[in-house]
Amino acid sequence: MAIGMESRLAVLLLATLLATTRTVTSSESSQYCDAGNGYGEPQCGFSSKGLPPPPPPKILIKGGTVVNAHGAEAADVYVEDGIIVAVEPHIKRVGDDVTILDATGKYVMPGGIDPHTHLDVDSTGNKAVDDFFSGQAAALAGGTTMHIDFVKPSNGSLITGIEAYKKKAHKSCIDYGFHMVIHKWDEVVSREMEVAVNEKGINSFKFFMAYKGYQMVNDEVLLQGLKKCKSLGALAMVHAENGDAVFEGQNRMIELGITGPEGHALSRPPVLEGEATARAVRLAGFVNTPLYVVHVMSIDAMEEIAKARWSGQRVIGEPLVSGLVLDDSKLWDPDFNTAAKYVMSPPIRSAEHGKALQAALLTGILQLVGTDHCAFNSTQKALGVDDFRKIPNGVNGIEERMHLVWDTMVESGQISVSDYVRITSTECARIFNIYPRKGAILAGSDADIIILNPNSSFEISARNHHSRSDTNIYEGRRGKGKVEVTIAGGRIAWMDGQLKVTRGSGKYIEMPPFGYLFGGMDKEDARYLSSLRAPVKRQRSCA
Ligand code: URP
Ligand code: ZN
Ligand code: ZN
Repeated sequence: MAIGMESRLAVLLLATLLATTRTVTSSESSQYCDAGNGYGEPQCGFSSKGLPPPPPPKILIKGGTVVNAHGAEAADVYVEDGIIVAVEPHIKRVGDDVTILDATGKYVMPGGIDPHTHLDVDSTGNKAVDDFFSGQAAALAGGTTMHIDFVKPSNGSLITGIEAYKKKAHKSCIDYGFHMVIHKWDEVVSREMEVAVNEKGINSFKFFMAYKGYQMVNDEVLLQGLKKCKSLGALAMVHAENGDAVFEGQNRMIELGITGPEGHALSRPPVLEGEATARAVRLAGFVNTPLYVVHVMSIDAMEEIAKARWSGQRVIGEPLVSGLVLDDSKLWDPDFNTAAKYVMSPPIRSAEHGKALQAALLTGILQLVGTDHCAFNSTQKALGVDDFRKIPNGVNGIEERMHLVWDTMVESGQISVSDYVRITSTECARIFNIYPRKGAILAGSDADIIILNPNSSFEISARNHHSRSDTNIYEGRRGKGKVEVTIAGGRIAWMDGQLKVTRGSGKYIEMPPFGYLFGGMDKEDARYLSSLRAPVKRQRSCA
């Protein structure tokens, strides 16, 4: 069919209405670049006349299989003004100014949403090498069109922290949202959490149960935070490792003379992740608020989540691509630089953990895959050459996640293509309450789209990746299924192995509170109160 003028106008009107009702802050940067080959700043021109980024083109994707989390169909996709206007079979060209993309034999899917990144982060004095431009350019080359980054408080203030991150993100070329880290508890934090949710578009807060003496919170703070999250309709997230025991484990390794990267893994075994996950799950259950466990790296943690979900608790588990596809053997590599690049927390575990995490994803115990992209180069990692405790924690993944999950889970036959869309995009959009604007190929959704060729292959190397890191933890890895085209906000950003990124075209996506995980909680709370059979009215007997 040809897209009729009326239906196009109707969808565009709907999209305009959605855009005006959505609380979105559009980036005002006037810088743009046609990078051609690579994203590197030298090739990127800034508009000398202060022009805004050029408007997104009209695009018609023909002949592909459109995949959503709810199913797949043969359909064409028409995009205008950065919005999907129609998803129907046999859409006819609507004008000469339409870019046609042939997707015959390929999958047309929602762009990936990475729920867990640390771009431009300062971690104990070490600045991650990827900022909001290089990290996002890498994301685009790997089929990810949105990510949610962790904002740290600045000078003790959540709001100052959010504003600082908004500045860092000015150069964005894909859409992004924020989670907020909570380090401590007082009246100011409590009030600022309200502002973050009600005025700043944040609907999730992360509590670190590890990193003693730095970001770690104790159970008292965690409990206060859980209560506050519940009252605001915000999702509580935990880094679940027992920080006191990790500290003890680190001392034990040093006393044993184990100072290399293997000491990192040995000092924080799975049992400490399991213990903290169990504790967080139980405290969230006690408060009766939903919980999101970030970077689930072990069977121990996954089983706690499984138990909680079986009992009806609202718990989400996020494994990382590193935890799914790698094992800890490299931490024992005799070459320090090789071993150190795998240091992250919780640590990458032995192979049976990765296999179990994959199985948990396919059975629905775990829900979505993140990266925890937090890249440091080998010079930074070498800070810990004599002491693993000084190795900056973090690995790459924002560019590799979509390919590796496809190869590991779909190509191997473990999950369907629709499940792939669910765990790499849709579930994240649903959890953080931005679906179906994100995470779907539907009329009215944002035009964040990838075209994946299942018959093409990929190979990963630091030689040609787009992160600024000089290493890649997936070096040399090959697989099937290649993202050939990435469209972000209606712009073709990755095609024919070339990046074309527009600085400042990425938008901050505000995420409203009370997502689906909160549905029905009021009734649950009421049932709990009525189950108490208290206070018991007693007559005071006079002695
Ligand atoms: O090692 C990691 N995961 N670094 C990033 C910070 C965190 O704990 O998420
Ligand atoms: Zn963490
Ligand atoms: Zn992280």
